[in-house]
Amino acid sequence: MNNDFQNWASSCQARIEAFLEARLPASDCVPERLHKAMRYSVLGGGKRVRPLLSFAAGELAVADVERVTIVAAAVELIHAYSLVHDDLPCMDDDILRRGKPTCHVEFDEATALLTGDSLQTLAFELLAEKRIADAAETQLEMITQLALASGSRGMAGGQAFDLDSVGKMLSLPELEFMHIHKTGALIRAAVMLGARCSSYLRDDQLAKLDHFAKCVGLAFQVVDDLLDSEATTATLGKTAGKDAVNNKPTYVSILGVNQARELAEKLQHDAHQALNEFGDSALRLRQVADFIIKRKF
Ligand code: IPE
Ligand code: IPE
Ligand code: MG
Ligand code: MG
Ligand code: MG
Repeated sequence: MNNDFQNWASSCQARIEAFLEARLPASDCVPERLHKAMRYSVLGGGKRVRPLLSFAAGELAVADVERVTIVAAAVELIHAYSLVHDDLPCMDDDILRRGKPTCHVEFDEATALLTGDSLQTLAFELLAEKRIADAAETQLEMITQLALASGSRGMAGGQAFDLDSVGKMLSLPELEFMHIHKTGALIRAAVMLGARCSSYLRDDQLAKLDHFAKCVGLAFQVVDDLLDSEATTATLGKTAGKDAVNNKPTYVSILGVNQARELAEKLQHDAHQALNEFGDSALRLRQVADFIIKRKF
């Protein structure tokens, strides 16, 4: 990672951390246990890749950074909620997340359930309370877009498919369906919401950006599958090797490590191509895509 990108990413991460820190209810605000668990699950951890994508898309669209911060925070809250629920015993049954005990281990299962619920609604509260788009109709479309990306036809639907697939041998189209829903949908929303904070981009340009986001969203989960099988618990901050233990079909179990790596690289190439017409103004988006594909954690 070059220094320029590292500095840019650090400043975006600091911005999103400060915003979330200020916007999450204080730990001494009743009900304290729930608010502590929400802050525990959101603050001080994670790569913040979805916010980075929103900021990069926002830069391409010359959008107001205050608006982009709101959408980036909303997407990160949905993501954090999805992780809290993903780790529950009734789902992946994980004890470690972002280098700390998972929410239900640190608190309890009921609190983890309510933490997810509350983070999800806070995300929509943020999108609804201030102006984030030039036109009110666009803002409503953005709220709908995040709802669709998060619900049964997006992330939650992908998670249902994931649970239903345990112990099964999926075809490649089925595996792709699962991954583009459970992970890709929210990544796509992160990019598109960032871009729609301004009305600078034309519809045909938004379509190119959407294609970029689809490639990156799928690549993200292909790399997550690779890391689960190849990296260590210490570097990941979550238990490595869990997919095999849980009998999950993944790009590694179905294609093998080498072909899964090749697929991630092909998606990286396709993602870059989708941005061709934007030239240098899409530099940050290309860099975030490269980070997602080359990351070691
Ligand atoms: C992990 O996401 C869960 C998936 C969707 C694969 P991240 O790898 O973005 O997790 P954090 O936010 O950095 O912890
Ligand atoms: C999780 O996928 C996707 C969501 C949380 C929506 P994984 O189950 O592979 O994520 P990790 O590996 O536990 O982070
Ligand atoms: Mg899972
Ligand atoms: Mg999991
Ligand atoms: Mg995983």
